[in-house]
Amino acid sequence: VDVHISLPPTGGHSGDLADRIYRQLADAILDGRLRSAEQLPPTRGLADSLGVSRGTVSAAYDRLSADGLTTARTGAGTFAADVMPAPRKHRRPVRSLSARPAWDALPDPPTPPAQARYDFSAGVPDASLFPWQAWRRHLADAARRTTRANVGYGDPAGLERLRAAIARHIGLSRAVRAGPDDVLVTSGAQQALTLTAQVVLKPGDVVAVEEPGYPLARNVFAAHGARVVGVRVDDEGLRVSDLPSATALVYTTPSHQFPLGMAMSPRRRADLLGWAAQHRAAVVEDDYDSEFRYGQRSLDSLHSLDHDDRVIYVGTFSKSLLPGLRVGYAVAPASLRSALRKAKWLSDWHGDLITQHALAGLMDSGVYATHLRRSQRLYAARHAQLTGLLSRDFATTLEVVPSAAGLHVAAHLASASRRSARRIAQDAQAASIRVSTIDDFYLGAPTRPGLVIGFGALPDEQIRAAMRALSAVLGDGSDPV
Ligand SMILES: Cc1ncc(COP(=O)(O)O)c(C=O)c1O
Repeated sequence: VDVHISLPPTGGHSGDLADRIYRQLADAILDGRLRSAEQLPPTRGLADSLGVSRGTVSAAYDRLSADGLTTARTGAGTFAADVMPAPRKHRRPVRSLSARPAWDALPDPPTPPAQARYDFSAGVPDASLFPWQAWRRHLADAARRTTRANVGYGDPAGLERLRAAIARHIGLSRAVRAGPDDVLVTSGAQQALTLTAQVVLKPGDVVAVEEPGYPLARNVFAAHGARVVGVRVDDEGLRVSDLPSATALVYTTPSHQFPLGMAMSPRRRADLLGWAAQHRAAVVEDDYDSEFRYGQRSLDSLHSLDHDDRVIYVGTFSKSLLPGLRVGYAVAPASLRSALRKAKWLSDWHGDLITQHALAGLMDSGVYATHLRRSQRLYAARHAQLTGLLSRDFATTLEVVPSAAGLHVAAHLASASRRSARRIAQDAQAASIRVSTIDDFYLGAPTRPGLVIGFGALPDEQIRAAMRALSAVLGDGSDPV
């Protein structure tokens, strides 16, 4: 390995230089940067690169060997010995650098949870449904086709072919009127939210988010210095009449409210757009899982109803394909497009073009549409089975929030329950069942506790057993606290 050795720029006495080389290599071995059996640079090469005599380096190596820090094999070289690494010494700076307070106030990213026997994680698609074979083919094609458009710096808005495919997809499925130039490809919906916050918000602006709602959206707005206000939702969605009049931006999930699951009613949609036009507010429509609808026709997207250029439409492939792909998109009013494209450019140019090329191939070949139809059918069956079991076996413990879309359902605890939802989730965890609570998605104090039950990660054949296990944890709902 190449080891960086720092020497005084003006050279020095050979004994001093040997001592410095010795100490820096000894440190690297003792603190574990050079691992056991890792090879040290050959003396001649190191001497040349440091501009010192070979004898100087050899003297340092002899001391390392005498101290038992290295072993030499004749003809093969010098290797770090197997020593117990010493704990790294940290000097404590007098005044450490500090992040802006808004960042300290945010929670840490979650650590990946341990494997559970039954996984009711919300919003996770079934990776076994992903069209792996076609994906590998399109990825190989993207890697073979090393044109400038593919491997160099491209348009910050993303690969044109992918933008065109996305525009067609949302044009047909959500009546979002957009051409390739209207689409900005992002690294997931998350980056679409970040870029929107960057270009729209001033510090101190009021941002209204749904309560309960999606934490990663409100965290973005808070990190950008906004005053984030939770606005309650009811069975028609966001309560528009509760919006603070100073609101600069409203974040909403109208197709499938996150996490409760109802759709925003047509009346509310009209109210929200009217309110936004009157107050000159921006509306972010997060359409994160609208690909999956069961039994009911979808309501018009806010974007398609908007005649005042207020709506930034955001979508993602995290639910319809895989979250790890990190591909999402935004369609913003023309007045914001140039700023958003610059923000994307300054953030990461355009993301990974190989992935974008492969995804465009998947969409253009029709594989994506076929995958959606198949997943839709399978998730519909899971949704029906899960809601059926919930209404049959959990009638005394849970009240299901009616919903006909997405990869999860929410259920409020029946009023007779004396255990908190968090306690139930902990008890479930002890029984190797992963389930989250509605409570976790509140900005303020939860008003109606409950559970969020995801079925994307739960194979069909496990649903019945998983629900039986969950029912055992819930008991009859009247357990003592
Ligand atoms: C409300 C909401 N928006 C967006 C996303 C997806 O975000 P991304 O595209 O960054 O993976 C999720 C995923 O859980 C979500 O629940």
